[in-house]
Amino acid sequence: MKVKKAVIPAAGFGTRFLPATKAMPKEMLPVVDKPTIQYIVEEAIDSGIEEIMIITGKAKRAIEDHFDHSVELELELEKKGKAELLELVNNISDMVDIHYIRQKEAKGLGHAIACAKTFVGNEPFAVMLGDDIVHTEDTPCLKQMIDCYDQYGSSVLGVQTVADSEVSKYGIVDGKQLQDNVYSVKGLVEKPSVEEAPSNVAILGRYIINPEIFDILAETQPGKGGEIQLTDALMELASKEDMVAYDFEGKRYDVGNKQGFLEATVETALRREDLREEFLAYLETLVEKESVKQK
Ligand code: G1P
Repeated sequence: MKVKKAVIPAAGFGTRFLPATKAMPKEMLPVVDKPTIQYIVEEAIDSGIEEIMIITGKAKRAIEDHFDHSVELELELEKKGKAELLELVNNISDMVDIHYIRQKEAKGLGHAIACAKTFVGNEPFAVMLGDDIVHTEDTPCLKQMIDCYDQYGSSVLGVQTVADSEVSKYGIVDGKQLQDNVYSVKGLVEKPSVEEAPSNVAILGRYIINPEIFDILAETQPGKGGEIQLTDALMELASKEDMVAYDFEGKRYDVGNKQGFLEATVETALRREDLREEFLAYLETLVEKESVKQK
């Protein structure tokens, strides 16, 4: 069955970016000039997704406004003859059909995904986490995973290998290698210590999941951190049917953390033709000055 729907959880408090996220959703923090959630929505569209559900929480109205028409802004841009900007803002609202639902209690990622049950129905769907932005030169990350789903017909976890010091931040896969970049999933552990971790293969914010997950989520008990964990439900699903982990190609940024956010900002700016030259010159001078200071 074709993967046509994507679920984007965006209900977290964004405490790591306080005070910026006190009144503004963390998903609206811009990398250069685009909110992080728009990168995710664009990746979904470029991967062939037709309908998106964003799971929101308190103080998230800005996300809905962002993907809606802004009549006043459009009139103003039209009046001032700013055709390019007008097209830019119009494009955002015309991108794709976006639905919203509120997660009323912050009970974890598994609980957030369970809120999308009616929207998803009985078909495989994608889950895209807003903290993970993936830059690719050719095929978008989610499209690579959809191609893998089409090949194997089982749920697919998007993974990459991470350093020992990073395993405790992620869901970690216990797998058997099937191909260069594909593992069959035998087990999963949410945020283990290095000693407990079965491997360094980490789930990085992209999933294609069969709808059987919803019955499992309804029964999943709170796990790590007292939250209903998607990883625990996936582990249960993997015990019932085949599941694969796909090592996707692309540079992934953890924009949910300050270092990752800064790296995404700098590297995205350097990839932009309109910014690269001046910004690179600035960085070179800056690095020179800073290294003189350190000596
Ligand atoms: C979530 C998942 C974890 C996954 C990670 C990817 O954790 O629970 O399994 O590896 O996203 O970013 P979070 O970062 O939301 O705590």
